[in-house]
Amino acid sequence: MSMKAIRITGTKDAHHISLTSFPIPVPKDKDILIKVHAAGITADEVTWPELYASTSRIPGHDISGTVESLGPSYSGPISVGDEVYAMLRASVSQGGQAEYVIAAPDEVARKPASISHVQAAALPIPVLTAWEAISEHAKLERGAKVLITGASGAVGLLLVQLARRLFDAEIIALASPRNHGVLKELGVSQAVDYNLLAWENTISDVDAVFDTVGGPTLSKTWSTVKEDGVIVTVGDPTPHWAFGRGEPDELKLHPRVKWVYFIVTARAEPLVKVASLIDEGVVKSIPIKVFEAEEGVEAWKYAARRGKEGKAVIEFVSN
Ligand SMILES: NC(=O)c1ccc[n+]([C@@H]2O[C@H](COP(=O)([O-])OP(=O)(O)OC[C@H]3O[C@@H](n4cnc5c(N)ncnc54)[C@H](OP(=O)(O)O)[C@@H]3O)[C@@H](O)[C@H]2O)c1
Repeated sequence: MSMKAIRITGTKDAHHISLTSFPIPVPKDKDILIKVHAAGITADEVTWPELYASTSRIPGHDISGTVESLGPSYSGPISVGDEVYAMLRASVSQGGQAEYVIAAPDEVARKPASISHVQAAALPIPVLTAWEAISEHAKLERGAKVLITGASGAVGLLLVQLARRLFDAEIIALASPRNHGVLKELGVSQAVDYNLLAWENTISDVDAVFDTVGGPTLSKTWSTVKEDGVIVTVGDPTPHWAFGRGEPDELKLHPRVKWVYFIVTARAEPLVKVASLIDEGVVKSIPIKVFEAEEGVEAWKYAARRGKEGKAVIEFVSN
């Protein structure tokens, strides 16, 4: 039995995207086989080495779908027919942009019931990244003042909502002016235009910076943070000091600021909690742009654009 799947061949600098046919995987041990209704795209994945290390070159970490079958030794709470969403960790076999994929039991959570599969497929990486940044790396305290860069992006919108709803944070959002209205509706108290030449001079004394942009934007945030504050970044390009390779140059002027770059961990618990928050109406899903599997090339091009109207999602089964 075969299935449709997106495939990326070549190298990170010269890659080729196509829709091809692959055998449907068979669940072993505690595996969960998911019929993928939709899969989200994080465009930078084409630069991540794990994709090129996989045997299938099928990309994709974010999925939403229905449980098709379970491995013979699976004994957890998930049943065949459950509607689930998941962030799949890097795999030597395949990613989630296919009609079927295998997930591990600790990756899978029931999807928010109040939203569609295409909406849910946009959420796992943004939810898990924002959750981990806020509660584990920044250890945010209630009422903290925070700066979020790339605030209108997929990760940014989750950072804004979780910081506001769970920690009552005072939020300064760095974003293009066309997104300031939406950010204010989500509870941002100050929206700052990243086109302003010295936007960093309009912000001071933040307890924590959450950066999703990197590069010069990340550098500028150092002057906005309190002397004992924290800067958490996931932005690409990865800072030169990430993975223990050194220290940020800015430390010379800001020696007491804490700084961390991290790679998000795939796990189910935060997805379970955020699914409840979505169903209770506390957290909103994020804007999406839906593509058919046959439009995979276009979907990946769209995902890599600036000024998107939503996260690109490939739909494999109509809702
Ligand atoms: N390390 C990890 O584990 C991890 C996890 C998740 C994501 N990431 C990375 O985090 C980044 C954000 O992911 P995402 O899914 O949120 O992407 P996204 O939806 O494309 O959002 C990116 C946001 O950054 C803004 N932006 C881009 N370039 C900018 C610049 N030069 N100055 C100011 N703002 C800029 C964009 O604004 P406009 O729309 O106005 O251009 C957009 O709001 C990506 O690089 C992704 O690879 C890393």
